[in-house]
Amino acid sequence: MFARIAGRYDLLNHLLSGNTDRRWRRQVAKRLGAALAPDARVLDIACGTGDLALAVLEAAPGARVVGVDFCRPMLELAARKAGRVGRRVPFVEGDALRLPFADEAFDGVTIGFGLRNLASVEEGLREIRRVLVPGGAAAILEFSRPVVPGFRALFQFYFSRLLPAVGGLLSGSRSAYEYLPDSVRNFPDQERLAALMREAGFEQVSFENLTGGIAALHVGRRGA
Ligand SMILES: C[S@@+](CC[C@H](N)C(=O)[O-])C[C@H]1O[C@@H](n2cnc3c(N)ncnc32)[C@H](O)[C@@H]1O
Repeated sequence: MFARIAGRYDLLNHLLSGNTDRRWRRQVAKRLGAALAPDARVLDIACGTGDLALAVLEAAPGARVVGVDFCRPMLELAARKAGRVGRRVPFVEGDALRLPFADEAFDGVTIGFGLRNLASVEEGLREIRRVLVPGGAAAILEFSRPVVPGFRALFQFYFSRLLPAVGGLLSGSRSAYEYLPDSVRNFPDQERLAALMREAGFEQVSFENLTGGIAALHVGRRGA
């Protein structure tokens, strides 16, 4: 599915979100950058076309960032994009549920709009924890549950009706843009995701709602 939409992925993200997706990634990068040393090793899981990895580098130019994704066409686009802005980022092919990295290899992990797509959120969180050093920081950006009821209903209409139609038309894959609202519906809300992080061994877990809870940024540190 991701290979099918890779070529139009960025365009549709920016178009369908009115560029809000860029702001959200910058917020994630800023939060993670503030939590880590300037030369921290950061893994961006489910990196797609590389936007979050590059946002981390913008916020923390000294960080050593690696991206991982299991979709080769996405990785090829990410590598080309990094080259265009003069960044050297290793973009590695690998499964988020079996990351090709040693235990405790990173000081920070980001995952943007990726956790929801994994076969198991719990296993994804355990794998994030595994590759983090004790005390290392995880920042999870994901669609969530709008907090104000009237706004939630309006957003649901946009997300479940308009978005699949426009996304399907422009990407050529309507099923991918029908899958998107379905996958968000089945994904844990803010509180539940925070609880799952704690259960997976993260401490100091907190979240902030982005754009009224359309998305949320969860952060936590790996316990000992
Ligand atoms: C919605 S995109 C998000 C891309 C990027 N992080 C962003 O912020 O735009 C989801 C990405 O997750 C990747 N993905 C889904 N399941 C994966 C898995 N099990 N292992 C690695 N990558 C995965 C897909 O290939 C896709 O590139």
